Amino acid sequence: MFDFAGKKALITGGTRGIGLATAVKLAKSGADIAVNYLRNRKAADEARAAIVKAGCKEPLILKANVAKDEDINEMFSAIKEKWARLDFLVSNAASGVLKPSAELTYHHWQWTLDINAYALLALARNAVPMMKGKDGKGTGRIVAVSSLGAIRAFNNYAAVGSSKGALESLVRHLAIEYAAQGINVNTVSASVVDTEALKHFPNRDVMLQESLHWMPAKKLVTPDDVANAVTILCSELTGMVHGHTFIVDGGLSVFLPG
Ligand SMILES: NC(=O)c1ccc[n+]([C@@H]2O[C@H](COP(=O)([O-])OP(=O)(O)OC[C@H]3O[C@@H](n4cnc5c(N)ncnc54)[C@H](OP(=O)(O)O)[C@@H]3O)[C@@H](O)[C@H]2O)c1
Repeated sequence: MFDFAGKKALITGGTRGIGLATAVKLAKSGADIAVNYLRNRKAADEARAAIVKAGCKEPLILKANVAKDEDINEMFSAIKEKWARLDFLVSNAASGVLKPSAELTYHHWQWTLDINAYALLALARNAVPMMKGKDGKGTGRIVAVSSLGAIRAFNNYAAVGSSKGALESLVRHLAIEYAAQGINVNTVSASVVDTEALKHFPNRDVMLQESLHWMPAKKLVTPDDVANAVTILCSELTGMVHGHTFIVDGGLSVFLPG
């Protein structure tokens, strides 16, 4: 649907789930892809094959913890060596501690906020100079992936929801800082998507059943649904969209049962 031939894209956490669906979609539109992951080498190898199959001959597969400045710096050195510039940054990798608030420690909080919110700040700091030409103007796109927990409350989600709230606020601040430089910063937020991430939820089965029950669209959001929204925000069609939160939730967040 879009022609991203020659565009260079980095998708953090791009080896599984929503990140991988996004990498494949951007590759199918012609973009050159770099994906990042943390630990799971097998998933990274499978992701490489899927991205090659989607049309990107030589994807960059980069192991780095997005919560750590030194890892991010190394990752960008590798990207600079290969490409010299970057067009799309999709800040998608996430983790976090799922517990009732009374059991959350400072360490849990810091770990969750570093991966889910601070990472975007550090990634953008590295990406923006690569998105601009010599005249200081760019055409880059930064998209952060968030969840409804930023604006709604769920069991065991206090730390992750707060981190996503911080992330969405950071997106708005980055958006106004970079708008005049031709760089668009936006969020895609989603309701529950059945990825491996859900294995970490103590109440996974109940969560899936209840989400489906309350969804006005009567089906769950898929990784592809989220990847579609990211792709649209990378396209020229959304050149005047800055600091927006594009919610993909089958109508769940606006539904008041009754
Ligand atoms: N699943 C949902 O219900 C849902 C709903 C709304 C929003 N989201 C958001 O969508 C995004 C992707 O979620 P998902 O469900 O697709 O996740 P997922 O299937 O668990 O995949 C997570 C990816 O992030 C990587 N990762 C985790 N921690 C990292 C770190 N510190 N540094 C670098 N990479 C790291 C993982 O690498 P390894 O394979 O090496 O671990 C993996 O590639 C997240 O931002 C999440 O909050 C998810």
